[in-house]
Amino acid sequence: MRRTKAATPGSRREIELVIERLGGGGDGVGTAEDHRIYVPYAAPGDRVRARLGRPDGQVWRGEFVELVEAGPNHRDPPCPHFGPCGGCQVQHLAAPVYTEWKRGLLVNALSRQGIEGEVGALVETPPRSRRRASLAARRGGSGVFLGFNEAGSSRIIDLTDCVVLRPEITALLPPLRAVLAGILPQNGGADLTVTLLEDGIDLVVVADNKLDLAMRERLAEFAVAQDLARLSWRGADGFNDPVAHRRSGMIRFDGIPVTIPPGGFLQASAEGEAALTGLVRDGVGAAKKIADLFCGAGTFALPLAGGAQVTAIDGEAAAIDALATAAGRGGRGERIAAQRRDLFRQPLTAVELKGFDAVVFDPPRAGARDQAEALAASAVPLVVAVSCNPSSLARDARILVDGGYRLERATPVDQFLWSTHLEAVAVFRR
Ligand SMILES: C[S@@+](CC[C@H](N)C(=O)[O-])C[C@H]1O[C@@H](n2cnc3c(N)ncnc32)[C@H](O)[C@@H]1O
Repeated sequence: MRRTKAATPGSRREIELVIERLGGGGDGVGTAEDHRIYVPYAAPGDRVRARLGRPDGQVWRGEFVELVEAGPNHRDPPCPHFGPCGGCQVQHLAAPVYTEWKRGLLVNALSRQGIEGEVGALVETPPRSRRRASLAARRGGSGVFLGFNEAGSSRIIDLTDCVVLRPEITALLPPLRAVLAGILPQNGGADLTVTLLEDGIDLVVVADNKLDLAMRERLAEFAVAQDLARLSWRGADGFNDPVAHRRSGMIRFDGIPVTIPPGGFLQASAEGEAALTGLVRDGVGAAKKIADLFCGAGTFALPLAGGAQVTAIDGEAAAIDALATAAGRGGRGERIAAQRRDLFRQPLTAVELKGFDAVVFDPPRAGARDQAEALAASAVPLVVAVSCNPSSLARDARILVDGGYRLERATPVDQFLWSTHLEAVAVFRR
């Protein structure tokens, strides 16, 4: 155990310590007086000054005060907002440590559930490649703050740059801030979903205030000036009001144009999507009858239908409509049966799963416990699980393995760069 300056953890006291390893949340972990101290923004080998927070058993949260001496695993974070901004947690880690830690999120989640199987190397995606962002805006006394929330707070970091987002999205921030200044009431806020599609940006503004004619005109002018594909306003009633619909809001999956519904789901980056699609394709291999569960607008269903019959199911009617229309126009209508169904309330049963050579499932962060249980009771020989949450993936993997599957391989895909989030594809066979 490495010791630092003699120090007994005590609330708000400052201590100096050397970081020994990284925790699952990306915090550096060191030891002082036999207590484990978790310090954010600190890499293994760093000597840091930390202010002690509240104890939790033998574990103490430390607030990062100062980097006293950088260790070999520390690098200068590339973003000016790193630290306060809640978007990224680990920009300060040098490459090998970062890569090992990120892959380790999947390795550790699987091992906590006692799942054995090969875990591949981390598939990387480049900086400035995120094409979809959920941002927050608030109008205060000095103008509109627009960006991500501060770590652990509802305060907003007013983004001037972002090394994760596509530059087209970052470039939209100043004019967006300016137009929101004339739209939001004093102390009023909005949530924004910005998605960069092939024919431009799709922007959805969710706010409580009513949109009057003057505001509508201002937003419509903004959409023209910024050459947005679409701008929608979602008020307190949850209704999607299409303020400007200048182009369809299109992306291609396997070369087939799909109109993504306003604010609809899209994998976070084109590079991540390509990696996931490749892994899903490899995973299903020569399967000829495939169920794609939680299919969205067809990210996997459309490519898979190039060589198989696909039953594609999702709970969002708009996504299913988009997929069905795209499949028809793209000449794959005969190959894809797109169905709307709530798979949490009504997972596909073992009987309904009969006859499928492979099942692909890509649920939201909570995973798909009930669907995994139905799969465990089924005779489907091959399951390919896509997930943005290693913990729920590992829990669902446990269910599959208890049902007779074995994990053949799992591949981590880093499409949420420098954050604690990780995407993965896992292939199970029985
Ligand atoms: C992580 S996304 C994956 C979408 C798609 N596979 C893709 O890659 O674009 C999760 C999907 O689950 C769908 N979903 C969420 N809750 C659902 C439910 N209860 N039943 C069915 N689908 C649901 C969402 O509409 C969304 O399309």
